[in-house]
Amino acid sequence: MNVLVVGSGGREHALAWALTRSPVVDAVVCAPGNPGMAELGPCMKLDEAIASLENFELVVIGPEAPLVEGLADDLRASGVAVFGPSAAAARLEGSKAWMKQVLEEAGVPSARHRAFHASQEAEALDYLETLPGFYVVKTDGLAAGKGVVVTERLAEARDAVREYLSGAAFGDAGRSLVIEEGLTGPEVSLLVLCDGSTQGVPLAPAQDFKRIGDGDAGANTGGMGAYSPVPIAGADLVDEVMNIAVEPTLAVLAERHVEYRGVLYAGLMLTPEGPKVLEYNVRFGDPECQVVLPRLISDLGVHCSEAATGRLRTPVEFLHQACVGVVLASEGYPAAPRTGDVITGLEAAAAIEDVNVFHAGTVRDGDDIRTAGGRVLAVTALAPTIAAARTRAYDAARLISWPGMQYRTDIAAAATTEPS
Ligand code: AMP
Ligand code: GLY
Repeated sequence: MNVLVVGSGGREHALAWALTRSPVVDAVVCAPGNPGMAELGPCMKLDEAIASLENFELVVIGPEAPLVEGLADDLRASGVAVFGPSAAAARLEGSKAWMKQVLEEAGVPSARHRAFHASQEAEALDYLETLPGFYVVKTDGLAAGKGVVVTERLAEARDAVREYLSGAAFGDAGRSLVIEEGLTGPEVSLLVLCDGSTQGVPLAPAQDFKRIGDGDAGANTGGMGAYSPVPIAGADLVDEVMNIAVEPTLAVLAERHVEYRGVLYAGLMLTPEGPKVLEYNVRFGDPECQVVLPRLISDLGVHCSEAATGRLRTPVEFLHQACVGVVLASEGYPAAPRTGDVITGLEAAAAIEDVNVFHAGTVRDGDDIRTAGGRVLAVTALAPTIAAARTRAYDAARLISWPGMQYRTDIAAAATTEPS
């Protein structure tokens, strides 16, 4: 089987890497890909790949934006099998207000909320006053992971409401917004394979570190590191989340004649009242994907193909080892990343046993690899325990450098219970 992977980030590098290891996959082509993916197979522009779609038996779409825009529908209409939900299903990520409606209809535990449009600024500001504790303001539409403000300060929440609804902060994505109560508790990401039925197949849980700084300080980012398994998210929790959240959500989609094929990412908060859904994403998490896939023993090519073309039958199986991933980011990330610096140490890091260096914001320049974005690399390591995987990932990360490189030093530090 020839597989086309759409995307150019660390998540897609990990997907392409896992697919090249699949016995049922003959070749992986990436569009547009990145310098790391180019080491696995050919990279080409997306429109060129689409023009030669007959060469592929399966397309795996990585990022949310093309899914929300309907790429999966277009490609399916051309007759190719696609791992990735339709635009109708991708609305779960494309509109937080719609996602919240679906959650409510499905009876899924989630934060109390209300949605507001640009003409409702006064009502939105009034609603803030009714919330206890702290305030959460989210763009309705996609904002590259940056559209969420979580704050204890009413004034900051009010400013966000005004900037979002006026379009000043995120254009149309913010002209509708969701305000919700602030929840507390540890967060867990559960990625669930879906084949169009109302029964998903969960992958191993992961935990992501969203803030830029150690100790969860500073701005929200796309994710600064992750690890899997998550000791506080055992099999019982996964079963509970499937029962109270994922399956009821898929059932409500089915009632609306919306079929979900691809991966559904449930962003959960483990509150004192039980797990609640913070968000759904319609693709693999980044960097969760980079730590979950190295643990996958079963065949990603088979899983994606089964999900895309029929029914998930092959059981998913994971190594009883831990994987820890550390994101190396550019100076100035997330506000204003500096780019163009030469990266050194990539080969030395990747030469360590059970280490992967997944590329995200990189570009090839002759013999050099330079930084080309905010999140540049994810360095992941497998080892028998979380503590050992952590040590190995940081040992590898320290071999890599460029001017201004930054990373968190506390990824998985508090999660030292051994994997089961
Ligand atoms: P989202 O894109 O909806 O996952 O939000 C991004 C991040 O904001 C989440 O991972 C949480 O850390 C935080 N967040 C979102 N919603 C809430 C909430 N209701 N209460 C507390 N934190 C939240
Ligand atoms: N790591 C968070 C996300 O992929 O949305």
